[in-house]
Amino acid sequence: MHAMTRIAEVRVVFPLVVVLSACGAPSTTTRDPELEAMLELARSGEYRTWSREPAPHRSAGPHSTVRTFINPTLEQSLRAGDTTFPVGSIALKELFDGPGTKRTGWAIDWKLEDGWRFFEGFDPSLNEYFLKGTDNGCAGCHRPGVDYLLTPLSAFGTTDP
Ligand code: HEC
Repeated sequence: MHAMTRIAEVRVVFPLVVVLSACGAPSTTTRDPELEAMLELARSGEYRTWSREPAPHRSAGPHSTVRTFINPTLEQSLRAGDTTFPVGSIALKELFDGPGTKRTGWAIDWKLEDGWRFFEGFDPSLNEYFLKGTDNGCAGCHRPGVDYLLTPLSAFGTTDP
């Protein structure tokens, strides 16, 4: 519950501005370019070539049913036993409905030059959370992990479809 309270606070300061035009005309969305890059990665499906968990499973946290993927930069660093990951490390999580049959969104942790970005969004708007740095509810719950990563290397057993 405590964590949910923090997430609620995060939502209040969430900075996105969404501009929707009237009458079904094309809509315009103003988003942070970093967030756009994250959404592009998610929508492209490019991450499906990365090492991933074998199947969706219930989250031990607030993420419903999930399946996590890690990019080669993060995987190599994990395999080397690093406790701080290099710039360019990405962990991406597919979020599903309870039974794990329908993907409902994504969560992405992406390390840039000046630190982590945390994104979590749900279809269709995909604009719920986008947070920079580690002074936020996402990072607070992820802090006990290895450089904010909670899923251990052993979970990423496969690159099968
Ligand atoms: C209450 C605790 C909690 C909060 C708050 C939380 N997470 Fe997580 N998160 C987890 C746990 C536990 C896992 C490990 C996998 C699982 O069981 O879901 C996880 C896993 C992840 C992963 C997969 C990589 C990893 O670290 O294992 C991503 C990406 C992620 N979370 C993103 C986010 C984002 C973005 C936010 C904020 C919007 C957030 N999380 C907030 C508990 C939390």
